[in-house]
Amino acid sequence: MCGIVGYIGERKAYPILIEGLRRLEYRGYDSAGVALLSEKSLEIYKEVGKVADLEAIVPDKEHFQTLGVAHTRWATHGEPTQENAHPHSSVSQDIVVVHNGIIENFMLLKRRLLDDGYSFRSETDTEVIVNLIESECKKGKVGLETAVNKALQQLHGAYALAVLSKSQPNKLIVARKGSPLAIGLGKNNAEFFVASDAIPMVEYTQDLIYLNDNEVAVLERGKKVEVKDIHGKSKNYKVKHIELDRNMVTKGEYEYFMLKEIFEQPETLANTIFSHLSEKEDTIYFEGLEKLKKQLSEARRIVIVACGTSWHSGLIGEYLIEELARVPVEVEYASEFRYRNPIIRKGDIVLAISQSGETADTLAALRYSQKQGATTFAICNVYGSSMAREADFVAYTYAGVEIGVASTKAFTAQVAVLSLLAVAMGLENKVLEKKRAKELMKELRVIPELVQKTLQQDFDIENVAKDFLDTTSFLYLGRGVNFPVALEGALKLKEVSYIHAEGYPAAEMKHGPIAMIDENLPTLIVGTNEAYYEKIVSNAQEVKARKGTIVAVVNENDKELSAIADYVMKVPEVDDFLQPIIASIPLHLFSYHVAVMKGCNVDQPRNLAKSVTVE
Ligand code: F6R
Repeated sequence: MCGIVGYIGERKAYPILIEGLRRLEYRGYDSAGVALLSEKSLEIYKEVGKVADLEAIVPDKEHFQTLGVAHTRWATHGEPTQENAHPHSSVSQDIVVVHNGIIENFMLLKRRLLDDGYSFRSETDTEVIVNLIESECKKGKVGLETAVNKALQQLHGAYALAVLSKSQPNKLIVARKGSPLAIGLGKNNAEFFVASDAIPMVEYTQDLIYLNDNEVAVLERGKKVEVKDIHGKSKNYKVKHIELDRNMVTKGEYEYFMLKEIFEQPETLANTIFSHLSEKEDTIYFEGLEKLKKQLSEARRIVIVACGTSWHSGLIGEYLIEELARVPVEVEYASEFRYRNPIIRKGDIVLAISQSGETADTLAALRYSQKQGATTFAICNVYGSSMAREADFVAYTYAGVEIGVASTKAFTAQVAVLSLLAVAMGLENKVLEKKRAKELMKELRVIPELVQKTLQQDFDIENVAKDFLDTTSFLYLGRGVNFPVALEGALKLKEVSYIHAEGYPAAEMKHGPIAMIDENLPTLIVGTNEAYYEKIVSNAQEVKARKGTIVAVVNENDKELSAIADYVMKVPEVDDFLQPIIASIPLHLFSYHVAVMKGCNVDQPRNLAKSVTVE
């Protein structure tokens, strides 16, 4: 949610910043801006729209400056306009700030600054921050660093900030509370990169410092990074060496990241599964599992907290863990959980699921649970993310960088980790027979191959999609472990194609949604589970009896449901509990094709941003 890039060093800053913005565009894309600073000049360019729109207005000149900051925005305070776009500068035009996050007390601070004679050009909370820094500089006759600290002490809310000043053209100051920020280290402290995540920096460095909350760093050419708290006290920091494959951050031969990421699933699932399951022996491995095992077997219950797609994988986790490990599971929307005074006690395990590891509500739910004495366990995709660092235990999903705003490969990787976790817990708790556990592990090992096979139906699914471009609403039904698959399928369709879609447990249809069924409301039925097959066939009959069109996801040897359905998408047969991964693939492809044929930008759906770091 909003992307920040910064550079200070010896190279020209502009190309680094623009390319960085392009890589961060998935975080927000309603406007963009860049500020370039040298001893002689400060230039600021901002434009509504995409990074390409910004580039189009930047005059074609040398851009020799070696210090700069840039921003791609997802609007919070004020509409996407040029005035509201970042960077924001102070009244005197001396100080410049780019910001990701929300300042909750900005109105109060703004009123104070207005009383002191400051004026504002935008409606943003960020313009308040930059003027607050300036007012602290002037009031206290202090330098930039102290003024930044004094301003930060007054802010309530979340921020990742990069600050520069015309009067200190050799310094870039960055700070973080609640929103992510990483510093990339160049060789011999000659240059520094700053970004909301590692992606814009992979080209230049793999050595990163991830700032913690309430930390401020001053970056100066030739000097070692200094990290302090907001009161100026020095803090120790660790440099993390990360290895990111550059191919992961480019589209390659694909038109969209979403399609690339859908097709990467055989590989990402193999990476995820074989990072936690031995290829030959039946051992499941999670870092720290030995320690966690005892707590898992003694857990009174597991509470899963997550948002959006990750919440859907949490629901699948509930079916898996309760069935295979017999531990009670509750699944909570993190945003509700954190504000409703939930009962969490020592002995509970709180499992936070998040692709980004930065989602504000999930992070807050995790922190709350830690305070209540629960053991926290994060399933994250982004290495070094806040949740991964703060949870007591972490299991990574190894899906690689996910850039498409609609989550696909991260979702199936989460489900794979949850499947392995459920099997490991079942064995540990001695409630899952060894024979059944072995069978599940055997099937998990072939999941990547089966996903590959499912992807071969892309062309057929595209043909099905063609018939639904004028559809305005869709019902998605599933039962058991495929109910959350239906929810996720519906979410994917509405996110990328803007077609209204609603996921429902198939049996619940009779309690309301059936009223809507007629020839204009198609129903997609996820009908792959053996356990409920007869029941789902009856649900399909009920839809047909009301002239509803049916698209069915079925096993490859299916007969009955296929005979009733108008359209069929076939998937290879696997154990019921591993169905969600396979059954999700046609739903990903279906949403993708409907949306692309409707002319939607599936990588950057309107109003959405990846990594929701504000509440
Ligand atoms: C949907 C989607 C979102 C995220 C949600 C949580 O395709 O991607 O619903 O799942 O914003 O994000 P993470 O998993 O990063 O916590």
